[in-house]
Amino acid sequence: MLLVTGKIKQYKKGGSLFPLELMDLFEAKRVFWVTDAPKGQIRGDHAHIKCRQICICIQGAIKIDAKNTITKETVTLREGDYVVINKNIVATQKYLTGKDILLVLASEPYNEMDYIQSVEKSNQEITVVGSGNFAKETCRTFNITPTEFIGINPGGLLGIPVNKTISNPCSRILMAIQNSEYRKKMFLMLKSPYWAYDNLIHHSALIDKTSQIGHGAVIMQNSCIGNNVLMGNFAVIDKSSTIGHDSVLKDFVTMAPMAVISGHCKIGNQVYIGSNAFIKEDISICDNVIIGAGSVVVKNINIPGKYAGVPAKKIRKSK
Ligand SMILES: CC(C)(COP(=O)(O)OP(=O)(O)OC[C@H]1O[C@@H](n2cnc3c(N)ncnc32)[C@H](O)[C@@H]1OP(=O)(O)O)[C@@H](O)C(=O)NCCC(=O)NCCS
Repeated sequence: MLLVTGKIKQYKKGGSLFPLELMDLFEAKRVFWVTDAPKGQIRGDHAHIKCRQICICIQGAIKIDAKNTITKETVTLREGDYVVINKNIVATQKYLTGKDILLVLASEPYNEMDYIQSVEKSNQEITVVGSGNFAKETCRTFNITPTEFIGINPGGLLGIPVNKTISNPCSRILMAIQNSEYRKKMFLMLKSPYWAYDNLIHHSALIDKTSQIGHGAVIMQNSCIGNNVLMGNFAVIDKSSTIGHDSVLKDFVTMAPMAVISGHCKIGNQVYIGSNAFIKEDISICDNVIIGAGSVVVKNINIPGKYAGVPAKKIRKSK
């Protein structure tokens, strides 16, 4: 997902008030607004190396087109809607009514050097967090050549250096670690905010438009996400996995290939679901649970640990 959107609640009493808390988004250092753009006018068409922006539609209707080297997205903002545009995304705004007002809050002061004019020139520096097989597979699947991998054992992968920390803080950061626990460890160690991580979503994945995906996700080929799914940050949804409608996944959830979460499930933080495992509908799984490959979960799991078998039961600790 390139664009994070939201709607500001309207309070009507002696006029209309639209309050927006910026805390979770970023600290704004600059503000500007656009008025009087003729109907059909297109503006923007550039990315920023460092600056992030919140675009708020104060009046009218404004279509935002966003793209990076991997994917494209479009949203139309109406009164009270906003969209967060991260760095390294080329965005254009089309003013649809001739009476539109766009307010933009920017995370950085104005700097001419921060502008990138084309999608080819943006995203040149890519950092992939992870240096194992999953990082390798992710690069091959999405045709990515990063400038560096990040791992605990410095060395090389695919002929590219593996470093311990991110050397260019303005690069696109992608998370590519399959193990939920290690993924979280690396995230905490690197200290980059969660929103600095881009999502990688394969074009063959089917994602219902009512579902929401957090930051730093990798969604592989032929995965299928039903309607009203709420997915936290740093999910790994591996090949041909399925998530049923109305399920909620917290942060750092991994689904190994062909895992199935049925509808109305609640999956906790750092839950790892092995290949071909099946979670029955309406099931809750607490934080820090590993479900073995091929297991079938038919009862809620309230105690962290490893569970396996049909039906899945808690297994002894490995030595
Ligand atoms: C569940 C799992 C994490 C357990 O790993 P572990 O802690 O090393 O456990 P062990 O291999 O020591 O096995 C412990 C017991 O659980 C059983 N067990 C392990 N995995 C099982 C599974 N998937 N289904 C049924 N039983 C399983 C073992 O047979 C063993 O039983 P025993 O005590 O009667 O001999 C692991 O086996 C697993 O399934 N991981 C997921 C693998 C996967 O999906 N990978 C995807 C890669 S893309």
